[in-house]
Amino acid sequence: MRFVDVIEAKAEGNELSTQDIEAMITDYVAGKIPDYQMSAMCMAILQKGMNARESTDLTLAMMRSGDVVDLSDLPGVKLDKHSTGGVGDTTTLVVGPLVAACGGTVAKMSGRGLGHTGGTIDKLEAIPGTNVSLPIEQFKSIVRANGLAVTGQTGNLVPADKKMYALRDVTATIRSIPLIASSIMSKKLASGADAIVLDVKTGTGAFMRTKEEAFELARLMVDIGTLAGRKVRAVVTDMNQPLGTAVGNALEVEEAVALLSGQLEEQDPLYEVCMILGSSMLELAGLAETEADARAKLREAIVTGAGLEKLRAMISLQGGDASFLSIEGMKRLTAVKRHAFVLAEKCGYVTSMNAEGIGTAAQLLGAGRATKEDTIDPAVGLVMKVRCGAKVEAGDVLADLYVNDDRYLQDSINLLTASIHISEELTELAPMIYGVVS
Ligand code: URA
Ligand code: CA
Repeated sequence: MRFVDVIEAKAEGNELSTQDIEAMITDYVAGKIPDYQMSAMCMAILQKGMNARESTDLTLAMMRSGDVVDLSDLPGVKLDKHSTGGVGDTTTLVVGPLVAACGGTVAKMSGRGLGHTGGTIDKLEAIPGTNVSLPIEQFKSIVRANGLAVTGQTGNLVPADKKMYALRDVTATIRSIPLIASSIMSKKLASGADAIVLDVKTGTGAFMRTKEEAFELARLMVDIGTLAGRKVRAVVTDMNQPLGTAVGNALEVEEAVALLSGQLEEQDPLYEVCMILGSSMLELAGLAETEADARAKLREAIVTGAGLEKLRAMISLQGGDASFLSIEGMKRLTAVKRHAFVLAEKCGYVTSMNAEGIGTAAQLLGAGRATKEDTIDPAVGLVMKVRCGAKVEAGDVLADLYVNDDRYLQDSINLLTASIHISEELTELAPMIYGVVS
C-alpha cells in the first residue's frame, strides 16, 4: 500500500494492520517516508485514536528500531519504574534504593529534564563524579553486585521515538494518548525489564491535565505492556503541586536523602507516593505477598538505613563521591551565593498551585533547561515552605529560592507568586493517589 493510502485509512478512522504499522516505522526511520507525511499520520492518530492492538504494534515496531537491552542473564525479576514527568518528583532516588534493599533487582534507564520537569539523570549528576552514561556491561555488573543501578538511555535506544518526538513537538501532536503510550512503552520495553511500575501524573504540572485522560493513558500503557509479555502496573497520582518540597537537582537529592534517613513524615506526599510505587514493585517481583507486607518491608529499609546504604553503594560503584549522601554532606552541594524568599501577600489558605509554573520558576533560576542544549546549575532551585491546605498569614514564607545568578530572579519570583493561590476559604484538596490500574 502507498503510505498516502495508509494515512487516509487512519484519517477515516480505520484500524491499521500490523504490516502497515511496521512498514511505517521502518520506512520513516530509513528516511523513505518524509516528515510531512509522518506529520499528517500523527495528526490523524491524534484525531482518530488507535486501539490497544494497534498501539502495541506501534510500540513494538518502535522498540525494534534500535538496540534492545538483554537483561535476561541477571538474577531475579528485573524491575523498572517510570514517571510520566512532574515537578519535585524524586521518587526514583528513593524507591530504587528501598526496593533494592528489600531484595529487588532494579535496572533503571532514566532521562534528563526538559522544560518545567526534572530528570533523574540530572539529579544524579549533581553528585560529583557520578557516571550516568555507563556502558551496558558495566551497568549490568553494577546491578548484579548491588541490585541497583541508574544510567542514561544508550545512544541507540528507540531512534524512531527520537525522530517522532521531535516531529510531534513542532506539529502539535504530542498530546495523543496512543502516541504518548507507544513513546514511553517502546523505551521501557527496549530497556529490558520484566516488570514495570508506571507513575502517571495528572494535574497542573502534568501532560495529562484531567484524571480521565490519565486513567486512559494508564490503561493503554498497562495493556501494551501486558500484550508484550511484561508485568505492568500503573498508579495515577496527583501533580497539582510539586510532589516533594524541593525543586532543583541537588535539592531533590537532599530531600531523597532526608526521606531515606527517616526525616519525612508518613503523611508527606513524596513519602506516600514512594510507598505505593515501591510496594507495587515488590509485589510484581513476588517479594511481598500483600501491599501491607510490602509497605512494612520498605519502612524497615528506611528505619535500618539499608535504603540509604544502597544509594551510597550505587553512587560509589558509578564513580561518584558517596560522602555527600548525608544530611550534612548534601548541604555542601546546595550552597549558593544567596537566598531570596517569596512571601504571602495576604492571609488565608493555600488552595491550589500551578505546578508547571513552579517548575518553570526553578528552571529560570538555572535548575532546568529551556532547550536540550542549555546547561544547568545543580545547586540552585527552590524549596516550597507550604503545601496545599496550609493556613498562612501575610508575610509568611511560601518558598525559599536558592540563587547563584540574578538574571531571571525577578521573573522567577513573579511566576512563583502567580503560581501559589491563596483564598479565604479552604476548598476540598485533591487526593495524592487517584487509583491503580493493573
Ligand atoms: N514522555 C515520553 O517519553 N513521550 C511522550 O510522548 C510523552 C512523554
Ligand atoms: Ca522525573
